[in-house]
Amino acid sequence: MTRPQALSLTADPADLAIAAGLLDQGKLVAFPTETVYGLGADARNARAVAGIFEAKNRPSFNPLIVHVASADAARQYIEWSDVAEQLASAFWPGPLTLVAPLKAGHGLCPLVTAGLDTLAIRIPAHPAARALLKRFGGPVAAPSANPSGRISPTTAAHVRAGLSARLAAIIDDGPCTVGLESTIVGLAPRPTLLRDGGLAREKLEQLLGQPLAGRDEAEPLSAPGQMQSHYAPNARLRMNVTDPDPSEVFLGFAEHNGDLNLSPTADLTEAAAQLFDHLHRLDHIGKPIAVAPIPEIGLGRAINDRLRRAAAPRDT
Ligand code: TXA
Ligand code: MG
Repeated sequence: MTRPQALSLTADPADLAIAAGLLDQGKLVAFPTETVYGLGADARNARAVAGIFEAKNRPSFNPLIVHVASADAARQYIEWSDVAEQLASAFWPGPLTLVAPLKAGHGLCPLVTAGLDTLAIRIPAHPAARALLKRFGGPVAAPSANPSGRISPTTAAHVRAGLSARLAAIIDDGPCTVGLESTIVGLAPRPTLLRDGGLAREKLEQLLGQPLAGRDEAEPLSAPGQMQSHYAPNARLRMNVTDPDPSEVFLGFAEHNGDLNLSPTADLTEAAAQLFDHLHRLDHIGKPIAVAPIPEIGLGRAINDRLRRAAAPRDT
C-alpha cells in the first residue's frame, strides 16, 4: 500500500492553525527553524513521540530537544538557575539549547528524554516556528527532520526527499538562515559545551566570563546523540583538501574554489548556512566529496564537527 504524501503547508496563520491541529491529534509535522527543519510531535504524547523515532529510524536511547514558545514555558520543564536565566535572556529565542535537570510534574513522556533525568530545551527564533508553538500552546519534541545519521535538512525539499511518507505535513518557509543545529550547553553541575552549533562558543564564553567545560568523552551519556558517524552523505567524504583528485567533487571555501563554494569571501556565517544544502547537492552527483579547509574558529568549529562526523567510518 502506498502511503499518502505529506500535506504541503505555508507559514500563513490559517496553515499554521492546521499544523497545530495535526500536532494536537498526535501527528508528525515538519517545520522550519532558524537552524534546520525539525520533525515535531506533541512532547506529552507517547505515541506521537514514538512516531518520531520510527520515522527517523532513530535509536531510542537518543533523547530529543523540546521546543517551547517562551522562557516561562521552559521554566515549567527544567530546574531554572541563574546561569539558565543569563543564557536564556541573552540568546533566546535563538540557536541555543539548554540541558538541565527535569522538573517534577513536567508531564513529558519519558521517551523524549530517553529516560534521562535531564531535558534539552530551546526557543527557536524562526517566526513560523514561534507562531506554530504559540498556536499549539504545548511542548513540541523535534529532532532534525532527516533519517537518523544522514545529512540534516535546511529546506522543505530536503525533508520531503528523506521522510515525506512518514509525515502528516511539512511547513515550507524557505531555507534555514543559520543552517547548523543549535549549540547545546549543559547547565549542571557547571556550564558544559555538549554540541557545537549555530551559536559560536566564543559568544557564550564572553557572556559567562569563563570558558565552557568540555564534554567528557569517557561519559557518552552526557551527550548521547554524539555518535561518531552522523551527517553522512552516501558518498565518502574527506576534509582539509586543497588539491582534490579528479575523481572527486570539491566543496570549496574562500580562495579554494570547487564545484560549489561554501563562501568565496571566507564568511563562516554564510558557510554554515550553505553547508548541508551543498552537501545534499554534491551527494546527488554520486562521487566522493573533498572539502577545503575551514578555520577552527567561531561557527567554523561546528562546521568542522559536522564534517568530521560525515567523514567518520560508518557503523553500517
Ligand atoms: O537546532 C536544533 O537543535 C534542531 C532543531 C530542529 O531544533 N534539533 C536537533 O535535534 O538538532 P537532534 O535530535 O538532531 O539533536 C539533538 C541532540 C542529540 O545529539 C541528543 O542526543 C541531544 O541533543 N540531547 C537531547 N536531550 C539531551 C539530554 N537530556 N542530555 C544531553 N544531550 C541531549
Ligand atoms: Mg540531528
